[in-house]
Amino acid sequence: MAALRVHGTVHVPGDKSISHRALLLAALAEGDSSIRGILVSSDVAATASVLREMGVELAPLSAQVHVRGRGVRGLSAPGAPLECGNSGTTARLVAGIVAGHPFSATLVGDASLSRRPMQRVARPLQAMGALIKFANSDGLPMTVHGGPLRAVDWILETPTAQVKSAILLAALVAGVSATVRGGGRSRDHTERMLAALGANLISDSASVTIQPTEDIMPVDMDVPGDASSAAYFGGLAAIADEGDMDLPGVGLNPTRTAFFGLLRAMGADVTTTVRNEAAGEPVGTIRVARGELRGVAIPPEDVPELLDELPLIACLGAVAAGETRVTGAGELRFKESDRIAVTVANLRMLGADVEELPDGFVVRGSDRPLAGRVKTGGDHRIAMAFGVLARRWGSAVSVDDRSCVAVSYPEFWDDLQRVSA
Ligand code: S3P
Repeated sequence: MAALRVHGTVHVPGDKSISHRALLLAALAEGDSSIRGILVSSDVAATASVLREMGVELAPLSAQVHVRGRGVRGLSAPGAPLECGNSGTTARLVAGIVAGHPFSATLVGDASLSRRPMQRVARPLQAMGALIKFANSDGLPMTVHGGPLRAVDWILETPTAQVKSAILLAALVAGVSATVRGGGRSRDHTERMLAALGANLISDSASVTIQPTEDIMPVDMDVPGDASSAAYFGGLAAIADEGDMDLPGVGLNPTRTAFFGLLRAMGADVTTTVRNEAAGEPVGTIRVARGELRGVAIPPEDVPELLDELPLIACLGAVAAGETRVTGAGELRFKESDRIAVTVANLRMLGADVEELPDGFVVRGSDRPLAGRVKTGGDHRIAMAFGVLARRWGSAVSVDDRSCVAVSYPEFWDDLQRVSA
């Protein structure tokens, strides 16, 4: 009898990045929006509650959300600080939206979010004319004094989708133009959704420009499943001894699916089929079956498209033949945890052969059984990556904080149990 057998289908929950953007753009739209299949998680709930604080009527998050749009500059001054919880996407995109409104707001977050860099979003918004004050030198709390903004042509220091999006949203709200360069292959959901809602947007591989836009249409969409959540089940199927995994209804935006190409390059059997489109996003099915996994080298230019999957790739590397090497991924140190340090420390503790680099890691895989208790540092992606590794036959791995998956995938442990019991 095979040791780890996977079977069945997982309908992963709605895409986190798209869920945030759908809510934010619905609030800025002219008219009523309907968003189906939104991710009901603590991160998206933070965006919803921030919008409520700025006058948007929103019922508690559920599978189907209706939003009465307030128009492109229609939000109201909040009466209290905007609590962004653990969500970097909320903090940075909302900073852009507030910058274009004629009021001030203070953004706050939990301990992890308060440590994450915010100057990177403040600098371009200041160049557009917003006044931004930090309680400390960087990070939250951050107070944004919005108002009339001017056009900007901004070169990103690192290819980050959140800062790119903040600039585009500030320009949308303020009715000015903005060009963002250096976004590289960072995720482009904001651009796709803005274009689908009728904003004046031009983009190519080097830059994206929004021209003054009077208003945007309401959102009417089924949020596709999150490719980053699907990645855990792809990884699980790849390390299984038997069986395959079907992942239908997943967003197949090419800026998000590089992990599945990588899994194929590592030796797994992967097919992706595009079936339909939702608000400018391709949607389809991913199917993964096992293979003899071998290590891979991931060059810096591939990092933006694999960003959230790198802890999982490290875990797969620990059980693949040969070496898995990631460089140019210094950004990982500024996520919900320092994902380089936390991933390396946990793999080493479990008995894997791993080396920390300033901007990445090297993992040398082996058949050795792995054992120990993983410290997630409260980071959902660390919990889920090691949760997959824990299912491998012969390993004795446990995860200290299972509840942190509530940020992006509350049903993760149930789904994992169901398909690999
Ligand atoms: C996100 C962008 C990514 C990603 C994060 C969500 C987004 O960060 O890591 O989980 O929704 O825009 P970057 O801003 O570094 O691209």
